[in-house]
Amino acid sequence: MTTDQLQRPLRDLRISVTDRCNFRCRYCMPSEVFGPNYAFLPKDEILRFEEIERIARALVPLGVSKLRLTGGEPLLRRGLDDLIGMLAAIEGIEDIALTTNGVLLAHHAEALALAGLKRVTVSLDALDPAIFAHMNGIGAKVDRVLAGIRAAQTYGLPVKVNAVVQRGVNEQEILPLARWAKENQLTLRFIEFMDVGESNAWQMEQVVPAAEILSVLESEFPLSSLPPTHSGETARRWQHADGSAEIGIIASVSQPFCRGCSRLRLSAEGKLFTCLFAAEGHDIRQMIRRLDQDTELQQAVASLWSARTDRYSEERGQSDRPKAEMSYLGG
Ligand code: GTP
Ligand code: 5AD
Ligand code: SF4
Ligand code: SF4
Repeated sequence: MTTDQLQRPLRDLRISVTDRCNFRCRYCMPSEVFGPNYAFLPKDEILRFEEIERIARALVPLGVSKLRLTGGEPLLRRGLDDLIGMLAAIEGIEDIALTTNGVLLAHHAEALALAGLKRVTVSLDALDPAIFAHMNGIGAKVDRVLAGIRAAQTYGLPVKVNAVVQRGVNEQEILPLARWAKENQLTLRFIEFMDVGESNAWQMEQVVPAAEILSVLESEFPLSSLPPTHSGETARRWQHADGSAEIGIIASVSQPFCRGCSRLRLSAEGKLFTCLFAAEGHDIRQMIRRLDQDTELQQAVASLWSARTDRYSEERGQSDRPKAEMSYLGG
């Protein structure tokens, strides 16, 4: 097993399949920055499905057993179910999840489930139509996301819902979201607004810390805390006292979880990032286009991971190097 300088194993590969998105969430792709003239990656610079599959397969012997497809919005990539089928066939891959904004999910859920997707994570920051429309930056309707969630459930895909909480924007949605998730037996996770990328004008004052989110939740729901399922887990978890549903908080700002971080990220153009907040990725696209054998790729990734010291969330504020955008790198 490959471990890094802080003895963290490599376990998860998060694969961004496109840097494009049909939303313009203000905390991620504000339309003033990601406007009509924004230079997204050109098509020929994007990894083909065969190349993504090859990279994933090559990383299994190094420890990778969990895959997550992200974007941008991954459902904008045509034929995503074909990729999922190819990834599901890799021996040693135990879990394949998808992160989506849910708007196209109703249309794709059946094909994704049939292809071998194990579960989906849907982002939903508000149930209130006006707040949701404001946050997603394009006026998208919450009903379409809810239809996507229902479709996923219909085809047997377990669903988690992620809600980013921003002070002054959607903190009043914490309880409505929690009530709705409990009624629908969905796992809901609140995420502290993070200083990821360079475009979202992040300010510490806009972060609603986990302790505050928890006290809002506990004002209405009796909760009991759950132990971590594995080291490096992003969410702290609680269960409703009546056992109806689980609720989590991802506190990357107030309670960082770098200590057990086993996540490697692959951008749509084939760069590997050893941290969500990294400034630079390591280009492997040229390497795999040049070579027939995977040995050199495996050696390169093993040495990249062995040298890894990243713990950005624990060091926050100590560096002012530019960071990659979340829409490019995936969440
Ligand atoms: P599962 O527990 O396997 O479902 O996935 P996960 O906990 O990795 O959750 P998910 O992929 O839904 O990530 C949820 C959010 O947590 C992301 O959108 C990010 O905002 C944040 N997150 C995920 N991984 C990291 C990480 O490595 N570092 C930081 N700082 N935040 C992360
Ligand atoms: N802080 C926290 N979460 C974010 N996401 C996107 N940008 C941020 C940010 N700045 C979340 C999305 C989605 C996941 C991919 O990451 O809402 O749930
Ligand atoms: Fe919103 Fe996700 Fe698209 Fe970013 S990638 S704009 S968070 S839907
Ligand atoms: Fe991992 Fe970097 Fe996130 Fe820390 S900040 S948990 S090292 S990706």
